[in-house]
Amino acid sequence: MTTKTALVTGGNKGIGLEIARGLRDVGFEVLLGARDPIRGKEAAEAIGATAVPLDVTDEDSIARLAEGIEVLDVLVNNAGILLERGAPPSGIPVQMLRDTFAVNVFGVVAVTNALLPALRRAPAARIVNLGSGLGSLAYAADAEHVYARNPLLAYNSSKSALSAVTLAYANELRGTSIKVNVADPGYCATDLNGHAGPRTPGQGAVAAIRLATLPDDGPTGGFFDEEGAVPF
Ligand SMILES: NC(=O)c1ccc[n+]([C@@H]2O[C@H](COP(=O)([O-])OP(=O)(O)OC[C@H]3O[C@@H](n4cnc5c(N)ncnc54)[C@H](OP(=O)(O)O)[C@@H]3O)[C@@H](O)[C@H]2O)c1
Repeated sequence: MTTKTALVTGGNKGIGLEIARGLRDVGFEVLLGARDPIRGKEAAEAIGATAVPLDVTDEDSIARLAEGIEVLDVLVNNAGILLERGAPPSGIPVQMLRDTFAVNVFGVVAVTNALLPALRRAPAARIVNLGSGLGSLAYAADAEHVYARNPLLAYNSSKSALSAVTLAYANELRGTSIKVNVADPGYCATDLNGHAGPRTPGQGAVAAIRLATLPDDGPTGGFFDEEGAVPF
C-alpha cells in the first residue's frame, strides 16, 4: 500500500501541530506548513513530519510548495489569525478585516486552488478547513447564544466566509471522489486566544482528523465538531 500524504498549513503549533501529529500517527506522510522555517523544522522533527515553508498570504510561497507536490491525499487549511482584542464591531478598522481575510479566507482559496491538481491525482482526497462556531450565522442570529454576545467582527465574518468558501468547493467537486468540509475544533487553549480556551489543542484536532480520514461514503459540504453537525 502506498503511503498517503497530508499537508497541514500553520502546522508548527496549536491545533495544527496536533492535527499533524494525529495524521502522522495514523500513517500519513505529513508535510507541516510553517511560515517560519526554524519553528517549522523544530515542530516537524518533534513529530516525525517534514517541514515545508508556507505563508498562505504569499503567492510565490504557495506556488513553490505546489510545484513540489505531485499527489496530495489530504489538505488541512488550518492556518488562521484572530486580530481583535476585545474591540466591538464599531471600533474595528477596515484594515483589520483585510488582514484577517487575507489569511483566514483568501489564503485558504489560494492554497486550495494551487493544490487542487495534486488533490485530483489522489484516489479520494479530503480537504478540511478549520472553521469556528464563532462563524456560525445560526448562532450569531440567536441573541441568546453565547457566541452572539461579544461579536468579533473580523474573525467571525472571516469564518462565516470560510464556510461559504467550503460549500462552493464542495459543490464544484460533488461527483468527484474529493470531500470538502469545515471542522470546528471548539474553544481550545492556544496562542490565538491567549490560551483562554478550556479545551486542549489535541481535543481541538479530533474533528479535523476525522474529516481528513472520512470513508468514501462520508459527507461533503458539512460543518462538524467532534460531537456531530454544527449549524452553518
Ligand atoms: N483555538 C481555538 O479555540 C479555535 C477555535 C475555533 C477555530 N480555531 C481555528 O483553528 C486554527 C488553528 O488555530 P490555533 O488556535 O491553533 O492558533 P495558533 O496556535 O495561533 O496557530 C495558528 C497557526 O497559523 C499560522 N499562521 C498564521 N498566519 C499564517 C500565514 N500567513 N501563513 C501560514 N501560517 C500562518 C501560525 O503560524 P506562526 O506560528 O508563524 O504565527 C500558526 O502555526 C485557526 O484557523 C483558528 O481560527 C481555533
